[in-house]
Amino acid sequence: MNAFWTNETQIRDFQHDLRAWFLKAQRDMPWRRERSVYRTVVSEFMLQQTQVDTVRPYFDKWVARWADFEALAAADESDVLHAWEGLGYYSRARNLHALARAIVAQGSIPASPEGWLAFRGIGAYTAAAISSIAQGVPAAVVDGNVVRILARLSADTTAFKDNGAGVKHFSALADNLLSRKYPGDHNEAMMELGATVCTKHNPRCADCPVAAFCCGKTLDDVAALPRFAAKAVKKVQIDRAFIRFRDGSVLFAKPHASARRLRELLEFPRWENIFPDKTPHAEALLLEGRRGIASESILERIYAGSLTRIPKSNADAEFVKVSADDLERITLSGPHRKWLRRILQGKKEIG
Ligand code: ADE
Repeated sequence: MNAFWTNETQIRDFQHDLRAWFLKAQRDMPWRRERSVYRTVVSEFMLQQTQVDTVRPYFDKWVARWADFEALAAADESDVLHAWEGLGYYSRARNLHALARAIVAQGSIPASPEGWLAFRGIGAYTAAAISSIAQGVPAAVVDGNVVRILARLSADTTAFKDNGAGVKHFSALADNLLSRKYPGDHNEAMMELGATVCTKHNPRCADCPVAAFCCGKTLDDVAALPRFAAKAVKKVQIDRAFIRFRDGSVLFAKPHASARRLRELLEFPRWENIFPDKTPHAEALLLEGRRGIASESILERIYAGSLTRIPKSNADAEFVKVSADDLERITLSGPHRKWLRRILQGKKEIG
């Protein structure tokens, strides 16, 4: 850890300047006007995957309709889900409803982050936010915004594998900097700083209330922090067979994909599924396509093959013959539509 941050006086000054700025500059948000555990819980659930501006009207309507845990616990699930409509990620609504029912059933509200963590839909961030903002418990929130602020403040150039690694790395520093007296204000000030000043792109260092403490501001490119390691790209090659029957119909595969979304999408059969004992000849290559998904770079090669009958389905796929008239109507997976057109037009290009 940077030595700068082990100096108690510096930390106290940092906390003071951060909070003084927050009390003056914070944006008006409905859940900040009047505080209660219930209002904090509702707002934190809504804010989990949704922007502040989207949440505002939903929050107001929600607390007007269900003012406390008891009212929410007594609500019908269908009304709860309906009120959530438009916010997305409905499991949050179900979890919030179940939380209200559990709190009413047990007759007490959790008093620590550990207590909140026991509920579905509450992770470390939400548990710390609720405990600190509504209950004054000193628990630091650490998310991508906080990681960004702390990486810059401490000029830490570590390259993280992912966001989770950054959160883990900075948890101790976040805790060390947390104001024990005003943990809720401190956490919300960090959120506010990340959202309005120490932004991902073009941070406004000239307006930063804690610039005096920032080791990153003298770097050439403080906005490049935090750093994330480039993901290794795995190279994958897939050979497929393009088989056209004498009547102009084309053979497709309907993969027995575990992913539900792939269920009805057709694709050219994998070469090895049709001709398990034959490697394709280079001169039969019709088209070569490249595509990237997640961390894979996939090279797909489509070779002309010939068959007289539809093969039996196997463990990977079911095979179907699509008549020439139906070719435009079927739903194809990924770039297959483009590939099919090119093959039918006789274009042998890299695409
Ligand atoms: N994001 C998550 N919790 C928040 C809060 N209390 N204020 C602003 N943004 C947030």
